[in-house]
Amino acid sequence: MSRLVVVSNRVPLPSARSRAGGLTVALHAALSEHGGLWFGWSGRRVRGASGEEHVERDGNITYRTIDLSWSDFEEYYNGFANRTLWPLLHFRMDLVDYNRETWDGYRRVNALFAERLARELRPDDIVWVHDYHLIPLAQGLREHGIDNRIGFFLHVPMPSSDLLAALPAHREVFAALSSYDLVGFQTARDLERFQDYVRLFGGGRVIGQGQLETAEGHRFRAGAFPISIDTGKIAQQAAAAERKLPVQKLRDSLTGRQLAIGVDRLDYSKGMPERFRAFERHLERHPERRGLLTFLQIAPPSRGEVPEYQALRQELEGVAGHINGLHAAPDWTPLRYVNRNFPHDVLTGFFRLADVGLVTPLRDGMNLVAKEFVASQDENDPGVLVLSRFAGAASELGEALQVNPYDLDGVADAIAQACVMPLAERRERWHAMMETLKRHDIEAWRRSYLGALAAA
Ligand code: G6P
Repeated sequence: MSRLVVVSNRVPLPSARSRAGGLTVALHAALSEHGGLWFGWSGRRVRGASGEEHVERDGNITYRTIDLSWSDFEEYYNGFANRTLWPLLHFRMDLVDYNRETWDGYRRVNALFAERLARELRPDDIVWVHDYHLIPLAQGLREHGIDNRIGFFLHVPMPSSDLLAALPAHREVFAALSSYDLVGFQTARDLERFQDYVRLFGGGRVIGQGQLETAEGHRFRAGAFPISIDTGKIAQQAAAAERKLPVQKLRDSLTGRQLAIGVDRLDYSKGMPERFRAFERHLERHPERRGLLTFLQIAPPSRGEVPEYQALRQELEGVAGHINGLHAAPDWTPLRYVNRNFPHDVLTGFFRLADVGLVTPLRDGMNLVAKEFVASQDENDPGVLVLSRFAGAASELGEALQVNPYDLDGVADAIAQACVMPLAERRERWHAMMETLKRHDIEAWRRSYLGALAAA
């Protein structure tokens, strides 16, 4: 059987496995089936040149990672990946910062990864590359004579082709996807938008049945593979977490009030300022509900060297302070805003405690918090998910209260509706979503992707 090679910017080294999320665990399972290699950045920035490699072994899995110099990291990760591609792929042209220096850095790091990985590959290895940091990797590998099966999965959205075409380097970036045998997206809409791009701006055509052809006549495949969670494990974990101290403390602190919860990396795609304002609007539009609901927003800081993230952090502090200053009572703080992370099982315990899950990104590839919130609920008394229709998860979770995150009144009313929803309706909606998540869990996702890659 072929060995699997997973490539991603961040590599979950065995030493840090206790914090591993569902994706890591699923890929780890796939790697250990027939032996495998996980390849990517070491997480280290060094004074000298990029390129020192580190190898760790765990059973039949090898982890091979590369150090990056400060300037490569700055241009590739903070620069092109997170100030150009991230906002572009999340429909935020207004935040795109394009310059040739970071574009060069992005290509340089991808070329380095390709050169180093090419040396490690065996003829029948199957290579699976993840996310927007590494779009040009297959092209680089092909230049080194690698003709293995190579797949790509984009974890973030694929925006409209007109937006993509506004990127000065769009041809080089997005045409490079045709070097993969299979390009995977989160939803059918993402796939459609990519097909539009290939037709309208790439000079290629859509042959049908997931097959595309470039202007030069080269054929490759693309498909939708919605990522998921380890549904069964999260359900168990959440039930067991009820006994954990932080979960008990949170419950006690509510003194009988209802709880709404949001958990997001501190990122402008998550729509947190809008969510905070919608929560405030809910207090204004439903004054009878004042003092009945506490909103806990957990937002671990992310990409803190990127100016847009610094600005967001400041903005959120302002909005949170404003809401509490205006609406708090001596015995009630409406909004608890916490800039730190918690162990995953504790988070699932928090979800289980919550009456309302607020997942209202402005754009999101999938959003696994939405799925985890559902899987964490007590089936006898499930909470209600308020979900942005601009999260990939919305296409599967039709029984959530779906909202437009830009419509503050709509979100405000959905919060109120969630708080008073009768038990029978909550259970009916929850059961339907839980059935979906049991059928389409993370195992099903990786099997369907790797099956399609093997067949491509
Ligand atoms: C998103 C991206 C991932 C990324 C993660 C954390 O989910 O799709 O590729 O790893 O955010 O961001 P970070 O920049 O800390 O790796």
